Amino acid sequence: ITVYVPRDAAALSVGADAVAAAIRAEARHRGLPVRIVRNGSRGMLWLEPLVEVATDAGRVAYGAVTPADVPSLFDAGFLTGGAHPLGQGLTEEIPYFKNQERLTFARCGVIDPLSVEDYRAHGGFRGLENALAMTPAQIVAAVTDSGLRGRGGAGFPTGIKWNTVLNATADEKFVCCNADEGDSGTFADRMIIEGDPFVLIEGMTIAALAVGATSGFVYMRSEYPHATETLRHAIRLAYDEGWLGENIHGTDRTFHLEVRVGAGAYICGEETAMLESLEGKRGMVRAKPPLPALEGLFGKPTVVNNVLSLCAVPVILDRGAAYYRDFGVGRSRGTLPFQLAGNIRRGGIVEKAFGVTLHDLLYEYGGGTISGRPIRAVQVGGPLGAYLPPEQFALPKDYEAFAAQGAMLGHGGIVVFDDTVNMARQARFAMEFCAIESCGKCTPCRIGSTRGVEVIDKIIAGRDVDDNLALLDDLCEVMVDGSLCAMGGMTPYPVRSAVKHFPADFRPAPGSRA
Ligand code: NAI
Ligand code: SF4
Repeated sequence: ITVYVPRDAAALSVGADAVAAAIRAEARHRGLPVRIVRNGSRGMLWLEPLVEVATDAGRVAYGAVTPADVPSLFDAGFLTGGAHPLGQGLTEEIPYFKNQERLTFARCGVIDPLSVEDYRAHGGFRGLENALAMTPAQIVAAVTDSGLRGRGGAGFPTGIKWNTVLNATADEKFVCCNADEGDSGTFADRMIIEGDPFVLIEGMTIAALAVGATSGFVYMRSEYPHATETLRHAIRLAYDEGWLGENIHGTDRTFHLEVRVGAGAYICGEETAMLESLEGKRGMVRAKPPLPALEGLFGKPTVVNNVLSLCAVPVILDRGAAYYRDFGVGRSRGTLPFQLAGNIRRGGIVEKAFGVTLHDLLYEYGGGTISGRPIRAVQVGGPLGAYLPPEQFALPKDYEAFAAQGAMLGHGGIVVFDDTVNMARQARFAMEFCAIESCGKCTPCRIGSTRGVEVIDKIIAGRDVDDNLALLDDLCEVMVDGSLCAMGGMTPYPVRSAVKHFPADFRPAPGSRA
């Protein structure tokens, strides 16, 4: 009998190890033959630790399980899918899960993350096998045709980026994966690395074959020790099984892959700062051009892609560009793993084709706030993303539709706030975050963010509100126009959207404490 208990960091944080130990001990005590697989998360975080049992009808879920629940689960016959108050029925019939379109996350939570055999049995390495039989130009064409755009946030077409690197002439090229997932409310990169690390290895290897690179690095966020350990372990296994290194899968192709861990700076998620850090220097932003595609790591042509962009590649090479492109709307093709966080009843991963509305994500999937109060605002796209009010919740998730509203999808993170939020405080937080995380290279960001905090403090205190709001707007304009990178250039998005959509919060009633 196989029982699944996640090893994902989110599940571990609510006691998954203790639950696994309790199940093992109880099974031994009762003389029952139980095999425990430590899988990734299914992405339904409110049910973690989510324990699943393989039955003839499919996998049956129980959650959220504590060690104290374990004896009663055995009493209820959970090993054959018996009824229990924590029973959720068949995992794949849970509405939150059933209505998703999982292409990137298809295997996450399903397989043993550290079993090459399990990965293969679920379609793994088929995309790479196809790529090994193709020319670099054919691989690039497939990715271009799929319509895949950069999932890190900027949405630049992945195939065009790869084509730039392919056409660059150099003695050495690199593939670098940006796993410095610093956006607030985002966890998809971590979750897929912990739940299906081989898909990233496969995607990076395909990228390398496409552009002619022979080595690559994954730049991992220092706050992700479990993901780092899982990925390093998976890389060792991939070398052992001939999927990395010299003569990949019996061919004459070579790709070497290593993990490097950052030191906790948000700006190292900016691609050029990441490259500086990978080179062993302080993470400072470089001016572009030259683009990393032409002069990247150690000055060589380099593919820099986000984890989710690279993890979308195997399914494209396996099922074909048209299969992937058939999902989505307009110029936003395929799926995006949205991440619901903050004040939300059912937080987690919702992978859907582009075009789903914010309203459906927040209410049908998320179930509204956990506090039970009305949603007042959501921030989409991390700390540099705009705040949206309920009037904009009908907006479809589409790069262009969001840009037209002065907002961005970013990395797909959605942070929810109820009606107790003070948006002037949130605007101040955005400026303060920029002041703390600025790399310091340019003045509008380094100095402007500190002045921004001061101006918002004056507004919150009710001092010369009209004049200070005008000053804040001027300052935002300078930051947008004069900053070298998105850190300073996009901090005005949350600030200006807060002022625009929630003006009352910037005009505290006399004597009130904002
Ligand atoms: P960008 O628009 O400057 O570039 C996007 C990508 O396309 C880069 O990799 C760039 O090198 C590449 N590129 C542009 N033109 C090219 C060409 N002609 N040929 C080949 N490659 C080309 O945007 P940037 O500054 O890289 O990213 C900003 C975005 O980052 C923001 O929109 C935000 O959503 C996102 N972001 C994501 C975070 C996360 O944790 N995932 C954190 C903070 C921001
Ligand atoms: Fe550095 Fe800020 Fe300038 Fe970006 S905008 S280069 S983070 S100082």
